[in-house]
Amino acid sequence: MEIIIQPTAEAATSVAARIIARLLREQPNAVLGLATGSTPVLLYRELIALKLDWRKVTTFNLDEYVGLPPEHPQSYHSFMWENLFRHINISKQNIHIPDGNTKDIPKFCAKYENQIQAAGGVDLQVLGIGTDGHIGFNEPTSSLASRTRIKTLTPQTRKDNARFFGSEDAVPHHVITMGIGTIMEARQNLLLAFGQGKAKAIAEAVEGPITAINPASILQMHPVTKLCLDEGAASRLKRADYYRWVFDNKPGWQRW
Ligand code: GLP
Repeated sequence: MEIIIQPTAEAATSVAARIIARLLREQPNAVLGLATGSTPVLLYRELIALKLDWRKVTTFNLDEYVGLPPEHPQSYHSFMWENLFRHINISKQNIHIPDGNTKDIPKFCAKYENQIQAAGGVDLQVLGIGTDGHIGFNEPTSSLASRTRIKTLTPQTRKDNARFFGSEDAVPHHVITMGIGTIMEARQNLLLAFGQGKAKAIAEAVEGPITAINPASILQMHPVTKLCLDEGAASRLKRADYYRWVFDNKPGWQRW
């Protein structure tokens, strides 16, 4: 894991945007895994401002609520179109977001996995993290080998996401999410986390044991995972000074 600690969310986002921009310039047909939530909003804003060429890029979103119409303002379909897709030159047929209204969820999930494979796999997966350590919507105790499937949100996640829906009651209970096994097959993972509210989940994921109780901890087993953190999210890391030194002293050829 490469732990990149920056003074602010803006600075951490810029590092992440540079990594993605470089990938898209070097590999114009890259396959990106995308995330939602408040964390990547800044990232998408920065990527839009960079005016990259998205014509050949393929995207797969991590997750979607079950039962929300795609045009619902809090669906992840709406989120992605509002925050990224409508501002870039991506081809509509290259965009993939789980269908939370499919009649046959297992069949849809198997197809989603096949589509990822057919596209050549995910080159870079953007991730946020829940306060309970979830990635995508893989809640604590999710199988670390799981594939795309239906999941039931924990009360904590429904509470965390109530701010988007106006009330906790309005937050759906069920979601479709890429599995942890699916995420682990991405060639590169880029996890962003900002604010003290994420500090415990990050400390456990980075410096704790690998456990399904903190699903993000499985990223310790991934060969190319970068975490872009602000000071708040990094505040409970015991070895923060070491991570800072490593980043500040990277050999020139390792920079981006
Ligand atoms: C949601 C999403 C996750 C996201 C997490 C954190 O539940 N499914 O992909 O990482 O919550 O959200 P936020 O960035 O708003 O803190």
